[in-house]
Amino acid sequence: MSELNRIGVAIDSDLLAKFDALIQDRGYTNRSEAFRDLIRDELVQKIWEKPDQQVVGTVTLVYDHHVRMLSEKLTGIQHDFHHNILSTLHVHLDHDNCLEVLIVKGKAADVQKVADALISTKGVKHGRLTLTTTGADL
Ligand code: NI
Repeated sequence: MSELNRIGVAIDSDLLAKFDALIQDRGYTNRSEAFRDLIRDELVQKIWEKPDQQVVGTVTLVYDHHVRMLSEKLTGIQHDFHHNILSTLHVHLDHDNCLEVLIVKGKAADVQKVADALISTKGVKHGRLTLTTTGADL
Protein backbone atom coordinates (compact mmCIF):
# COMPACT_ATOMS: atom_id res chain seq x y z
CA MET A 1 0.00 0.00 0.00
CA SER A 2 1.24 3.50 -0.83
CA GLU A 3 1.54 6.42 1.58
CA LEU A 4 -1.66 7.45 3.36
CA ASN A 5 -2.96 10.93 2.49
CA ARG A 6 -5.54 12.99 4.34
CA ILE A 7 -7.96 15.08 2.27
CA GLY A 8 -10.82 17.41 3.19
CA VAL A 9 -14.13 17.00 1.39
CA ALA A 10 -16.73 19.79 1.32
CA ILE A 11 -20.21 18.27 1.40
CA ASP A 12 -23.58 19.71 2.36
CA SER A 13 -25.07 18.43 5.60
CA ASP A 14 -28.17 16.81 4.03
CA LEU A 15 -26.05 14.73 1.66
CA LEU A 16 -23.62 13.85 4.43
CA ALA A 17 -26.48 12.70 6.69
CA LYS A 18 -27.78 10.45 3.90
CA PHE A 19 -24.29 9.11 3.29
CA ASP A 20 -23.78 8.39 6.98
CA ALA A 21 -27.12 6.56 7.18
CA LEU A 22 -26.25 4.53 4.09
CA ILE A 23 -22.83 3.47 5.29
CA GLN A 24 -24.16 2.66 8.75
CA ASP A 25 -26.74 0.34 7.15
CA ARG A 26 -23.94 -1.31 5.22
CA GLY A 27 -21.83 -1.87 8.29
CA TYR A 28 -19.03 0.63 7.77
CA THR A 29 -17.47 1.82 11.00
CA ASN A 30 -15.98 4.98 9.45
CA ARG A 31 -16.43 7.25 6.44
CA SER A 32 -12.89 6.79 5.15
CA GLU A 33 -13.33 3.12 4.31
CA ALA A 34 -16.71 3.86 2.69
CA PHE A 35 -15.13 6.59 0.53
CA ARG A 36 -12.27 4.30 -0.44
CA ASP A 37 -14.71 1.56 -1.49
CA LEU A 38 -16.76 4.00 -3.58
CA ILE A 39 -13.61 5.14 -5.36
CA ARG A 40 -12.44 1.56 -5.94
CA ASP A 41 -15.85 0.64 -7.36
CA GLU A 42 -15.65 3.51 -9.84
CA LEU A 43 -12.12 2.46 -10.82
CA VAL A 44 -13.30 -1.11 -11.42
CA GLN A 45 -16.16 0.18 -13.61
CA LYS A 46 -13.62 2.24 -15.57
CA ILE A 47 -11.39 -0.80 -16.13
CA TRP A 48 -14.35 -2.66 -17.68
CA GLU A 49 -14.82 0.14 -20.22
CA LYS A 50 -11.50 -0.79 -21.85
CA PRO A 51 -12.18 -3.79 -24.14
CA ASP A 52 -8.63 -5.19 -23.93
CA GLN A 53 -8.26 -4.88 -20.15
CA GLN A 54 -7.90 -8.13 -18.15
CA VAL A 55 -10.91 -8.52 -15.86
CA VAL A 56 -12.59 -11.05 -13.59
CA GLY A 57 -16.26 -11.44 -12.89
CA THR A 58 -19.11 -13.80 -12.16
CA VAL A 59 -22.14 -14.65 -14.27
CA THR A 60 -25.22 -15.76 -12.37
CA LEU A 61 -28.00 -17.59 -14.21
CA VAL A 62 -31.35 -18.99 -13.12
CA TYR A 63 -33.20 -21.25 -15.54
CA ASP A 64 -35.65 -24.12 -15.80
CA HIS A 65 -33.76 -27.14 -17.04
CA HIS A 66 -36.99 -28.61 -18.48
CA VAL A 67 -37.06 -25.95 -21.21
CA ARG A 68 -36.28 -27.85 -24.37
CA MET A 69 -32.58 -27.85 -25.31
CA LEU A 70 -31.80 -25.03 -22.87
CA SER A 71 -29.19 -26.92 -20.82
CA GLU A 72 -27.55 -28.07 -24.05
CA LYS A 73 -27.50 -24.51 -25.45
CA LEU A 74 -25.95 -23.09 -22.27
CA THR A 75 -23.32 -25.84 -22.19
CA GLY A 76 -22.56 -25.23 -25.87
CA ILE A 77 -21.97 -21.53 -25.26
CA GLN A 78 -19.70 -22.34 -22.32
CA HIS A 79 -17.64 -24.67 -24.49
CA ASP A 80 -17.37 -21.97 -27.17
CA PHE A 81 -15.89 -19.63 -24.55
CA HIS A 82 -14.00 -22.20 -22.46
CA HIS A 83 -10.88 -20.01 -22.35
CA ASN A 84 -12.88 -17.37 -20.47
CA ILE A 85 -14.59 -19.67 -17.93
CA LEU A 86 -12.51 -20.73 -14.93
CA SER A 87 -15.15 -22.56 -12.96
CA THR A 88 -18.88 -23.28 -12.86
CA LEU A 89 -21.09 -24.00 -9.88
CA HIS A 90 -24.47 -25.60 -10.52
CA VAL A 91 -27.12 -25.93 -7.82
CA HIS A 92 -30.52 -27.59 -8.34
CA LEU A 93 -32.79 -25.09 -6.55
CA ASP A 94 -35.94 -27.21 -6.75
CA HIS A 95 -37.57 -29.73 -9.09
CA ASP A 96 -37.43 -27.32 -12.04
CA ASN A 97 -35.01 -24.49 -11.42
CA CYS A 98 -31.24 -24.41 -11.63
CA LEU A 99 -28.83 -21.75 -10.39
CA GLU A 100 -25.49 -21.51 -12.11
CA VAL A 101 -22.58 -19.26 -11.18
CA LEU A 102 -19.64 -18.99 -13.54
CA ILE A 103 -16.31 -17.39 -12.75
CA VAL A 104 -15.20 -15.59 -15.87
CA LYS A 105 -11.84 -14.06 -16.74
CA GLY A 106 -10.15 -12.50 -19.74
CA LYS A 107 -10.40 -9.38 -21.87
CA ALA A 108 -13.35 -7.22 -20.85
CA ALA A 109 -14.91 -7.43 -24.32
CA ASP A 110 -14.71 -11.26 -24.38
CA VAL A 111 -16.09 -11.66 -20.87
CA GLN A 112 -18.98 -9.32 -21.70
CA LYS A 113 -19.66 -11.40 -24.83
CA VAL A 114 -19.88 -14.67 -22.85
CA ALA A 115 -22.20 -13.07 -20.31
CA ASP A 116 -24.44 -11.55 -22.99
CA ALA A 117 -24.67 -14.85 -24.87
CA LEU A 118 -25.66 -16.80 -21.76
CA ILE A 119 -28.04 -14.24 -20.25
CA SER A 120 -29.86 -13.58 -23.54
CA THR A 121 -30.47 -17.27 -24.22
CA LYS A 122 -34.21 -17.89 -24.44
CA GLY A 123 -35.47 -19.59 -21.29
CA VAL A 124 -32.98 -18.02 -18.88
CA LYS A 125 -35.23 -16.46 -16.21
CA HIS A 126 -32.63 -14.15 -14.74
CA GLY A 127 -29.00 -13.42 -15.40
CA ARG A 128 -26.47 -10.96 -14.11
CA LEU A 129 -22.82 -10.21 -14.79
CA THR A 130 -20.99 -8.95 -11.73
CA LEU A 131 -17.88 -7.01 -12.57
CA THR A 132 -14.89 -7.16 -10.31
CA THR A 133 -11.14 -6.81 -10.57
CA THR A 134 -8.11 -9.05 -10.65
CA GLY A 135 -7.02 -6.93 -7.68
CA ALA A 136 -3.67 -6.19 -9.26
CA ASP A 137 -4.28 -2.48 -9.87
CA LEU A 138 -6.17 -1.53 -6.73
NI1 NI B 1 -30.00 -28.22 -12.02
